[in-house]
Amino acid sequence: MASSSTSSSVKLMLLMPILVSSLMVATVGNLNQDFDITWGDGRANILNNGELLTLKLDKASGSGFQSKNEYLFGKIDMQLKLVPGNSAGTVTAYYLSSKGSTWDEIDFEFLGNLSGDPYILHTNVFSQGKGNREQQFYLWFDPTADFHTYSILWNPQRIIYSVDGTPIREFKNSESIGVPFPKNQSMRIYSSLWNADDWATRGGLVKTDWTQAPFTASYRNFKADACTWSSGASSCSSTTPSPSNNSSSWLSQELDSASQEKLKWVQKNYMIYNYCSDTKRFPQGLPPECSA
Ligand SMILES: *[C@@H]1O[C@H](CO)[C@@H](O)[C@H](O)[C@H]1NC(C)=O
Ligand SMILES: *[C@@H]1O[C@H](CO)[C@@H](O)[C@H](O)[C@H]1NC(C)=O
Ligand SMILES: *[C@@H]1O[C@H](CO)[C@@H](O)[C@H](O)[C@H]1NC(C)=O
Ligand SMILES: *[C@@H]1O[C@H](CO)[C@@H](O)[C@H](O)[C@H]1NC(C)=O
Repeated sequence: MASSSTSSSVKLMLLMPILVSSLMVATVGNLNQDFDITWGDGRANILNNGELLTLKLDKASGSGFQSKNEYLFGKIDMQLKLVPGNSAGTVTAYYLSSKGSTWDEIDFEFLGNLSGDPYILHTNVFSQGKGNREQQFYLWFDPTADFHTYSILWNPQRIIYSVDGTPIREFKNSESIGVPFPKNQSMRIYSSLWNADDWATRGGLVKTDWTQAPFTASYRNFKADACTWSSGASSCSSTTPSPSNNSSSWLSQELDSASQEKLKWVQKNYMIYNYCSDTKRFPQGLPPECSA
């Protein structure tokens, strides 16, 4: 009796941290646990016991994968090493998206280029099926020489895109002025490597050189501090972020002043397109969030 109650309270104590930590999912490690290869007929592969994922593109097909989990808010990091050499015409897309005609989406797209010419990092945010919120950047390093970390912080107040911890874009919740914000549809992570030589490089002027195929992009070190969504419920619903607990600080994270300075630095030196400056495109006036 005594011994069985001791052992059950020991079991309970051992279980507690598991219960607490299962509310919010933090995963790092095996890509097999987090992703499914979805297309490409053998061109997408998870290698080295789940440490590395590669996508390939050749003339016949590209390839892609998606997350097993759906997420509703999170801080999601992935390291990518992009197609090296002459990658003109190729696009590596890495994004979060929900389903349906009024979907939400948070995009990173990497537009390839001739050897030595700069990739473009293209970003866009869709809410309720509406996008047209592109910002494009050059990078301050060669994204094909090594892995770099591309992160999306998505919480109810804002979306922050970062590269190696440096914020490059912030999309704030502007619901108060009538702009829908992605917050009630769970999203999966998707990625694909595909041919887009009708538009990707110098607006479609430079075509894919298939003599260079297969093209390969690589992924590793996925990390998600996130609320997962399954059967209509969030893994975080019972953890209304308690201020005493900083494991969920990303749920209310904002840019501190040092990060705002970095964001300004990137936008001043590396941003090559901003829909919010494109008055020609929006003759009726810039979208409302641009002046928020
Ligand atoms: C915060 O939550 C984590 C698990 O999510 C737990 O291990 C830790 O003890 C908590 N810290 C506080 C101060 O409550
Ligand atoms: C999300 O909210 C919008 C209004 O902000 C509504 O139109 C849409 O139907 C909602 N979607 C879901 C899945 O609840
Ligand atoms: C490719 O290089 C050209 C020349 O430097 C540049 O204008 C263009 O923005 C680069 N990137 C893409 C994806 O076209
Ligand atoms: C928790 O995070 C806040 C900022 O979000 C910080 O001011 C505070 O010191 C942190 N507390 C602990 C215990 O780390």
